[in-house]
Amino acid sequence: MHSDTVAREVRRRRTFAIISHPDAGKSTMTEALALHARMISEAGAVHGKAGRKATVSDWMEMEKARGISVSSTALQFNYTASQSPTTPADDPDHPHVVNLVDTPGHADFSEDTYRVLTAVDAAVMLIDAAKGLEPQTLKLFQVCRHRGIPVITVVNKWDRPGRTPLELIDEISERIGLTPTPLFVPVGIAGDFRGLLDRRTGEYVRFSRTAGGAKIAPEEILDADAAAAREGDEWASALEESELLSEMGQDHDQEMFLAGQTSPMIFTSAMLNFGVRQLLEALVELAPAPAGRLDVDDNLRDVTEPFSAVVFKVQAGMDASHRDRLAYMRIVSGEFERGMVVTHAQTGKPFATKYAQAVFGRDRSTVDTAYPGDVVGLVNAMALAPGDTLFDAPRVQFPPIPSFAPEHFATLRANSAGKYKQFRKAMDQLDSEGVVQVLRNDTRGDASPVLAAVGPMQFEVVTARMKSEFGVDTTIEPLGYSLARRTDEGSRAELDRQRGVEVFTRTDGAILALFSDKWRLAYVEKELPDLTLEPLVATA
Ligand code: G4P
Repeated sequence: MHSDTVAREVRRRRTFAIISHPDAGKSTMTEALALHARMISEAGAVHGKAGRKATVSDWMEMEKARGISVSSTALQFNYTASQSPTTPADDPDHPHVVNLVDTPGHADFSEDTYRVLTAVDAAVMLIDAAKGLEPQTLKLFQVCRHRGIPVITVVNKWDRPGRTPLELIDEISERIGLTPTPLFVPVGIAGDFRGLLDRRTGEYVRFSRTAGGAKIAPEEILDADAAAAREGDEWASALEESELLSEMGQDHDQEMFLAGQTSPMIFTSAMLNFGVRQLLEALVELAPAPAGRLDVDDNLRDVTEPFSAVVFKVQAGMDASHRDRLAYMRIVSGEFERGMVVTHAQTGKPFATKYAQAVFGRDRSTVDTAYPGDVVGLVNAMALAPGDTLFDAPRVQFPPIPSFAPEHFATLRANSAGKYKQFRKAMDQLDSEGVVQVLRNDTRGDASPVLAAVGPMQFEVVTARMKSEFGVDTTIEPLGYSLARRTDEGSRAELDRQRGVEVFTRTDGAILALFSDKWRLAYVEKELPDLTLEPLVATA
């Protein structure tokens, strides 16, 4: 293994996720990116109801229909930047390698959605031009902020009526304290998307539509005079907005971006493929390359050191006929070669990587070599759990992935008392895998633990696996709590006396108080201000 090779591979890699609310256009944008990277020749998302072709995102649906539960997927593609003088990878022999790691959303929203964000170096926050910031985007953004992940903001659906750029910019600054620094401002209001004013060059990028948005939209680059002649008032107002932003200091600043304080912003129509190239260019030019990671002792494992990786998701087949179990790892350092025998830090046992796959939707291909920033699926990884470390000597162990704030709570019990032993065993297994958080207290005992989840799908996974893998029929019943706060032993007794509040110990030792609703929490906070009650974005 040559560390020069690794260093070069690292420099050209970018690993990111798209964070968004359902319907903002994540699947359409994924396809548009694949189209621009020339992975597919035509976007199927022509949104024609009839005769619609299978699209990249539909593959995931098919995967689900085949019963392999929800895919965590990473789409890897090469991209040769067209105007990226600052990056070393703009020759066609060494294009950039972009890893887009999927964040399961919609009905599949779960703790895994958050865990995916521990595997990326940057996020694209995709928002709908008409809707602005929406709840799921906000939750995912909080995790990015907590982990210090830099965020590029994309205002999508600019081809449809929506808000003004300044309204959207204000909303983002005011609600989440992130300052957008648009790289481009749109020419034409939302609903009349003509092109983009490139704020760094002062040029106009004019787009033309293709039939149904199936192909890359042709671009024409005009200088300011030609743009003014062509677009008149629309150009003038774009220019005015750009100047106003500069006066307010909202120009891109790489350090502030990397520090998570500002966010380069782009306006797109994923459906028409407008602005998608600009997004790719921003990613390869501005988003950070993979970096080393601190281990549990705070020592840095540099990217060029021997192989190490962190497991960020484990997926077990929910269908009994699919007993395969995929562990997804993000490579932190060194070169990965399929077949190498690495060490599982948590058990000290060897792990053979004979079956290594890249998974995207229905596409599974064998991975022979991979580098820091890449995501590799390991088949039949029975011993691996999220947060685990794999390494090639010298030994390293990375800190565990934190648990994220649960919002759904339920009790679980075995339908037949005779199955109690298997039930306990299964519960311990699913708990250690991080399928759900398990909460206990003395009042309730062990026969019906309380399960806590980020998304209700996690409960379905528990009951399905209880049955298929352990032969235990279970009943799950929702509990009347909707939010959790971290507390301590000192506050426990007082909290337990409150109506609508119950205190539990989680398996990792954290003490959590559950509240029926936010009003109950507000009441307790007001009446008993001395109690410890901390929000739980992530509890590392
Ligand atoms: P998601 O993965 O974030 O949930 O969103 P998805 O890409 O599925 O897009 C949600 C809807 O928004 C789709 O319409 C899609 O066509 C539309 N859409 C996405 N990007 C754009 C855009 O840039 N402009 C416009 N005008 N629409 C966009 P749908 O009606 O739900 O689906 P379909 O029936 O059109 O396939």
